[in-house]
Amino acid sequence: TNIDLAYAESLIAETPDYPEPGVLFRDISPLLADPSALRDVCAAIVEPFAGQFDIVGGIEARGFLLAGYIAATEGVGMLPIRKAGKLPTPAAAVTYKLEYGSATIEAPGVLKPGERVLLVDDVLATGGTIAAAREIVSQLGAVTVGSAVILELLGLGGRENVGDVHTVFTA
Ligand code: PRP
Ligand code: MG
Repeated sequence: TNIDLAYAESLIAETPDYPEPGVLFRDISPLLADPSALRDVCAAIVEPFAGQFDIVGGIEARGFLLAGYIAATEGVGMLPIRKAGKLPTPAAAVTYKLEYGSATIEAPGVLKPGERVLLVDDVLATGGTIAAAREIVSQLGAVTVGSAVILELLGLGGRENVGDVHTVFTA
């Protein structure tokens, strides 16, 4: 199959001044809605890590959309990393800073010791979410073998904060 990432990138919608003035919001919904773009982007997310992970971790909510697809195509399981308060018996929890305030993510205790996790999400901004997800995997006794996102937003410190993240597109 031919991978056409330029086509996929063209399907990221841009909305000026959302959610507040001066911010250019990028929405992957049109990309998700296109079968070849979704296929190509998920292939590009996984490509550096092929054969190196046992399970894919998706971060609620938009990371779920990618993790479910990748789990199916790669023949691995899926770890849902949830926002706080959704799980009856979370085995790990991490609170992290947002631009304003804080957020907590939690995960169920479903990983085997040393299991190799690929973390996926749609966007890397400040990196707080990916950093927290790595800490969740560590608390669960497993190993993050890689972190990958569709879109890295430059200038928000994400790469400085979390180091090695595989990004398909930058903006
Ligand atoms: C967005 C995005 C990433 C995160 C990136 O999620 O989907 O998960 O922010 O930001 P960071 O690098 O600064 O942590 P959001 O929490 O807005 O919610 P959603 O995925 O549930 O829409
Ligand atoms: Mg998110």
